Amino acid sequence: MCAKILENQSYNQLLQEQAVRARRNSYAPYSNFAVGAALLADDGTIYTGCNIENASYPLGNCAERTAFFKAVSEGKRRFTAIAIAGGPAVSAGADQPVQAEVPDPEGLHTAEEEAQDNVCDDRQLVCCPPCGACRQVMREFCGPDFIIMYSDGNGAFTSRTLKELLPDSFGPEQMER
Ligand code: THU
Repeated sequence: MCAKILENQSYNQLLQEQAVRARRNSYAPYSNFAVGAALLADDGTIYTGCNIENASYPLGNCAERTAFFKAVSEGKRRFTAIAIAGGPAVSAGADQPVQAEVPDPEGLHTAEEEAQDNVCDDRQLVCCPPCGACRQVMREFCGPDFIIMYSDGNGAFTSRTLKELLPDSFGPEQMER
């Protein structure tokens, strides 16, 4: 059923739009790099996430892992695809960009949630592949054909599979006895 959903180009687009919206919630006052993610569970549910930094730097969390931890904590363990959008955040006080109209058909984000200190310019995305730690978390819950779409810095998204981004990987099977 999910493979079928993903044959549908509009579903990929929905995930990408939700990643862009989720990025608006990013809390990144230290790096000023805002990331959003939208994760599709195999029952069709979408979980979004953003990066959340901390004054104690190592405690910050990436957008992808925020989305995974939300989903797993809600009982989901099987996933089909993730979209990731990243780029410089614009801090409050700077000239605020106009937020592009990004559809939110599933109503995942309220206006209140999106009124954040860091305003993101939805048009200023850079190439943002997932970091190594996030790839390993994906490896825990996803198969080799899990689809990872990330902003390419040219107004589109690159699509890769988990096995392409994390070859010869260590996973749960190694721990089986
Ligand atoms: N970041 C993510 O959220 N996802 C990634 O895959 C790469 C990096 C965040 C972490 C940190 O808050 C900021 O981007 C700069 O590294």
